[in-house]
Amino acid sequence: MAQVITHDVLILGAGLAGLRAAVEISRKSGGKIDIGIVSKVQLMRAHSVCAEGGTAAVLRPEEGDSFDLHAWDTVKGSDFLADQDVVHRFVRQMPEEILLLDHWGIPWTRDEHGRISQRPFGGHSYPRATLAADKTGFFEMQTLYDQLLRYRNFSRYDELFVTDILVAEGRFAGLVGIHAPSGETVVLRGKALLIASGGAGTLYGFTTYSQTVTGDGMAMAYRAGLPLEDMEFLQFHPTGLVPSGILMTEGCRGEGGYLKDNAGQRFMDKYAPKLMELAPRDMVSRAEMTEILQGRGFQREDGLHYLHLDLTHLGAERINTRLPLIREVCIKFLGIDPITHPIPIRPVAHYSMGGVETDINGKTRVEGIWAAGEAACVSLHGANRLGSNSTAECLVWGGITGAEIVAAMPKLKDPAPVPESMVKAAQEHVAELKGRRGSENLYELRRELRATMDHNAGVFRTGEGLAKALETVQAIRERARQAPVVDQGQTYNSNLFHALELENLIDLAEVLVTGALARQESRGGHARRDFPTRDDDNWLKHTLAFKTERGPRLEYKPVTITTWKPVERKY
Ligand code: FUM
Repeated sequence: MAQVITHDVLILGAGLAGLRAAVEISRKSGGKIDIGIVSKVQLMRAHSVCAEGGTAAVLRPEEGDSFDLHAWDTVKGSDFLADQDVVHRFVRQMPEEILLLDHWGIPWTRDEHGRISQRPFGGHSYPRATLAADKTGFFEMQTLYDQLLRYRNFSRYDELFVTDILVAEGRFAGLVGIHAPSGETVVLRGKALLIASGGAGTLYGFTTYSQTVTGDGMAMAYRAGLPLEDMEFLQFHPTGLVPSGILMTEGCRGEGGYLKDNAGQRFMDKYAPKLMELAPRDMVSRAEMTEILQGRGFQREDGLHYLHLDLTHLGAERINTRLPLIREVCIKFLGIDPITHPIPIRPVAHYSMGGVETDINGKTRVEGIWAAGEAACVSLHGANRLGSNSTAECLVWGGITGAEIVAAMPKLKDPAPVPESMVKAAQEHVAELKGRRGSENLYELRRELRATMDHNAGVFRTGEGLAKALETVQAIRERARQAPVVDQGQTYNSNLFHALELENLIDLAEVLVTGALARQESRGGHARRDFPTRDDDNWLKHTLAFKTERGPRLEYKPVTITTWKPVERKY
């Protein structure tokens, strides 16, 4: 019999959204609501610690920034697929989040007058990326955790690999997971669940994500019957370090860095003459790929093409104070110093605009389940997220969902006993995985999955390539049945976790590619060579993917347009 643990609220994921929600639940309930924070990694290894460049907020209305300007930038950046009521709420809430973090002790970078510093970021028409050097996510995480430690109402379940989100009779019924150190099955019950387990960028081989971020929460929600929204929109960040993919923050360009081709020429004037390197990410990534495909990139010996991010004109002091992590990473990983040498970069998978469908309050269709942060799709980013709006989203919807859960507690039913048949089914599935025999290799399959996503579902896509990707993903699902879990042990069985993660990635790849194949237009991060323009008549709508036995079933729902009708995006 599995160990059963009960809390009032369960938070799946210990990154920025999850921690912000935990703090809000603690504040609002005076520490009375009992929270279980569940993560497959140690808390400070949540991928949010890797966020670098900044968090967007309107802090200087007296100097020309405004809520309307931030909202407009976000909507235009989204290629008009963002829900505008969501965007308005977001921009109004953000300044308070910056000040809360300030009061809680975050070491924001400050200017010579002691004011919190902000830097320019792509697609923002005012410098509003609020920064803690180039380690913003790390300091935000640490500050939130420090704040949470003031309360005694939470328990941490680190290194607990959740395999199933259970839904029974239309409401949240519990989580089943494997405690990595012991290999024991654990059942967690609660009145409410917040899914805050991050995105799905390790669907791609060349990615900024930590290898631990495998879209588990999204995939489990999908299998539990929740729709995933707008999954075809996957963001490619313009500056991934070659060859590792480590993020070279947009803050590099915000501080004045240039993108250059193999002749040492800046090229963004051909694509976004006004904003140049600070155009939105979808445009800069397409510009870079165009330069590379037209032969103006560099090529490594292994065949990988790249361009240059040049910071050499910024000077040592600026780089050392504003971009210390970037310098350290370049020296450690490549042996080059950006003070004197350009950095090799190319577009890199960075962010899932899509996720578990929620309403404006982060509530899903299933009673007792909320989602926030990158795992969710509240429809803030539409088809293309602006840089520095994601840590911001985690803070805002961490706070909102935390408050919503507190308000909902009196109405939510006490957790019922978790149906034994569901726990048994979860355990049988793990046993079936461990019992697989055959000549396939789990690691090779994950490599193949990523290679097909890199090649066929990247910055530029075609119907033919996407169809090929779908075929490959479905074949990998079949081949995985012949991929044994070689380690049959109980303790830290990372081989088993790899098999479970692969299943999650396969489900998400299938949803992404199916949505991308169906969407016969180009919008934001989804650029189809065979349908090169945006088609508002037919495609100004959100995609919803529901799981069926035969693969994803797609439905569509309208975009909420309150203020701005779609127009051509020019920068
Ligand atoms: O470039 C960056 O620092 C990334 C920021 C973001 O994705 O918002």
